[in-house]
Amino acid sequence: MTPRKIIIDTDPGQDDAVAILLALASAEVEVLGLTCVAGNVPLPLTEKNARIVCELAGRPDMMVFAGCDAPLVRRLVTAENVHGKTGLDGPVMADPVMPLQDTHAVDFIIDTLRSHADGTVTLCPLGPLTNIATALQKAPDIASRIQEIVLMGGGCFEGGNITPAAEFNIHVDPHAADIVFKSAAPIVVMPLDVTHKALTNRARVEAFRALGTPVGATVAEWTDFFERFDKEKYGSAGAPLHDPCVIAYLIRPDLFKGRHINVTVETGSELTMGMTVADWWRVSGRQPNAMFMNDIDAAGFFTLLTQRLALL
Ligand code: BDR
Ligand code: CA
Repeated sequence: MTPRKIIIDTDPGQDDAVAILLALASAEVEVLGLTCVAGNVPLPLTEKNARIVCELAGRPDMMVFAGCDAPLVRRLVTAENVHGKTGLDGPVMADPVMPLQDTHAVDFIIDTLRSHADGTVTLCPLGPLTNIATALQKAPDIASRIQEIVLMGGGCFEGGNITPAAEFNIHVDPHAADIVFKSAAPIVVMPLDVTHKALTNRARVEAFRALGTPVGATVAEWTDFFERFDKEKYGSAGAPLHDPCVIAYLIRPDLFKGRHINVTVETGSELTMGMTVADWWRVSGRQPNAMFMNDIDAAGFFTLLTQRLALL
């Protein structure tokens, strides 16, 4: 099996962190680099957190790049209320020792796509799409070189989580999302409709802890922290592990179901800013531009995640 080459574009975030660990534990994917963006917390924290996660995974050799520190048009909105002041609240984590790369994340994305054969590099955005859109603006030729963009963002029947209409990643930079959805690159979307079914519960968190490793203990503490917000908000048993769904899809696409439909991002109305208008019933006549998922085998997902985390 030749591993699929991926770039993870991320704003860690506890769920981003778990996604990165899942990727680094999985032979089906080869992580070429982590590109960081402002989102859950400002950029200096997301790039630092990405390096913390690589060191936790025993991968200080991984290349981590800092990218855009603000959305294309709007002011940055962050989510410390969900992720804590550091973005990775929960266990106390030591400052990373591994270096941040000098190259800008956007240039790394462009250079990597240009230096690999067409259709052999997949982008995995787990945060606002600012880096990806900036790369597409700066180097329009890369759009046709992308194997696939598998992203976490948006919602359809589930509505939004930061506004009634919009999901956080798309709402933070709707203009970037608009560019990405219009890029003609093949896109797979993991929206809230999927991730709100990928819920932790006591047994699932205890399975992480029972691994008896630093990774298992840390992931359990992260999810313990992350859960409190969603339990209060939704009255659910646990918290959605949004971003790991992206990586799980690369490893086990059979765990997910969806439809190839048109997705258009609202960038005009303040009321619905960042809404992903997903044409689930194919009534708009607009051309499909994304594989929009709406279901997950949650038990299979957590089994996969726990088995892979055990390898770190
Ligand atoms: C998304 O927003 C962030 O809080 C999470 O990391 C995830 O990427 C969910 O709306
Ligand atoms: Ca994220």
